[in-house]
This record gives sequence, C-alpha cells and structure tokens, in this order.
Amino acid sequence: MKKIDVISAGDLERWKKRGRKIPVLTCYDFTMARILDAAKMPVLLVGDSLGQVMLGHDHTLPVTMDEMVHHTRAVARAKPHGLVVADMPFLSFQVSPERALEAAGRLVQDGRADAVKLEGGERSVPAVEKIVAAGIPVMGHLGLTPQSVLTLGGYKLRGKRKTEGETIFADARRLAAAGCFAIVLESIPAPLAAEITADLKIPTIGIGAGPHCDGQVLVLHDMLGMFTEFQPRFVRRFLEGAALIEQAVLEYATAVEKGEFPGPEHCYGLDEQDSRLDE
Ligand code: KIV
Repeated sequence: MKKIDVISAGDLERWKKRGRKIPVLTCYDFTMARILDAAKMPVLLVGDSLGQVMLGHDHTLPVTMDEMVHHTRAVARAKPHGLVVADMPFLSFQVSPERALEAAGRLVQDGRADAVKLEGGERSVPAVEKIVAAGIPVMGHLGLTPQSVLTLGGYKLRGKRKTEGETIFADARRLAAAGCFAIVLESIPAPLAAEITADLKIPTIGIGAGPHCDGQVLVLHDMLGMFTEFQPRFVRRFLEGAALIEQAVLEYATAVEKGEFPGPEHCYGLDEQDSRLDE
C-alpha cells in the first residue's frame, strides 16, 4: 500500500495558487526513485527520454509501451510520495482517442503510474479529453516536443516567431480546457512561457523555458552530470556524476588489482554468518 500523504495531481494547482514552485525530475528505476523520494521530490516523471539516457537510442521514437511500463513499474515499486507521471510513447496516443485511453490505462494498471503525459496541442485534445474522462490525470507537453523531431528537423527553440508563439499559447489554453492538470513547456522563449503561466490556472512546468514557469523539470541524468553526450544550454549540472563514478570505478579496479579488496572486514570466517543471509 502507498502511504497516505502522497501528492495528487490536484495538489499541484493548489501549489500554483499559493505561489509554491514545483520541482520535477525524470526517474526511470527503483533505486533512483528511492533517492528522489528521500529528497521529497513532488513529481517523478518517467520520461520517454529513457530512450536516450537508459537505452542509448538517438531519440525517443523507438521507445515502446512495454519499455515504458517496465520502467514505470520499477519507479512505482519504490512507493514514492511524489506523483509518478508516465510518458505516453510515440504512436500510443496519436492513432485514435480510444487507443490513447487503452495505452494510458496500461500505464496506470500495469505500470502503476498516477498520471500520464502526452505531447502536442490541438491534435492531442481528443486524446486528452478521452483519458481525463476515464479518470486518469493528464500532463500536456508543448513547445519542443521531442516525438516530432523528424518534422521539426532537430531539437530547436520553438515559438520564436510571433505566429508560432501564438499557436503555442492557444494550444496551452486548449489543453487546459481539455482537462490537463499541468503542462510542460519545453524550449520556448522565457517571455512566452511567462505569458502562458500568467494566463493559465493549471501549473506550467518549464524545461528551457525560463524562470517564470510554476515548476521546472530536468532529465535526472543531465542534472547529475551522468549523461554527457551533449548538454543543452538550459541544463545545470548539480553534480559531476560521470566523473565521480569513473573515479570510484578506477579506485575499485586498482584495489582489486593490488589485492587490497576484499579486506578482512569483507570476508566470512568458517564460524561466521551474515545475518542478511540467515533471514
Ligand atoms: O521525456 C522526458 O524526459 C520529458 C521531459 C524532458 C519533459 O519529456
């Protein structure tokens, strides 16, 4: 059973009203979910960015529903107090609202997600309405939507041109009216994100969208300095994780090579038992 003091999708709108900022991080596995929960992270996003950071794909398009369910279950098994939001992978919600509801249902029933996230504006509204009507909270995602990388021609700033900015603004209103409980705004100019944030009752969660959003999200492996293939300008590294882990691995290898590990404290005598193994 989950503990009772969990965060719900509705809580986030109350946080916005009170001016309380909402930190969000991506999370893809049990161990990290336990750490994020210990740090009281209010929202854990099982993003389809796992395609890149966990599976080594070039983009998010190859990520399957089975993979999303697998990783969402692992995060949910940590029973975090924060909201577990699972990304709907490419083609799981674009084909029809009915297929979208089935896919969202799988993420909740099999993956144990508390909510789902899907990309896109006007074209995604019927799917959002269908999923919300079934009682599943939906987070929207506008601006740079990585599942459209083939048509967008890369990961570029969106909404710089007036007409494109107006479309993003109108889409944000449409998603809010369709019942989204929050909207991710990715890679758009800060003034546009500020305008949308001021206009909506539901919270905006920014990534490369400036400081005026109600919350911020980063890919966990980016902010921990573990994914070093490339670093978008909006990422701040709060740890040099890759360098620290590499150092630890080198120290381990050296200790093994020199015969310094395992030491006596790591070995069993004939008459000793490890209580963990006794249980
Ligand atoms: O997949 C993901 O990690 C995301 C966030 C970057 C918002 O969609």
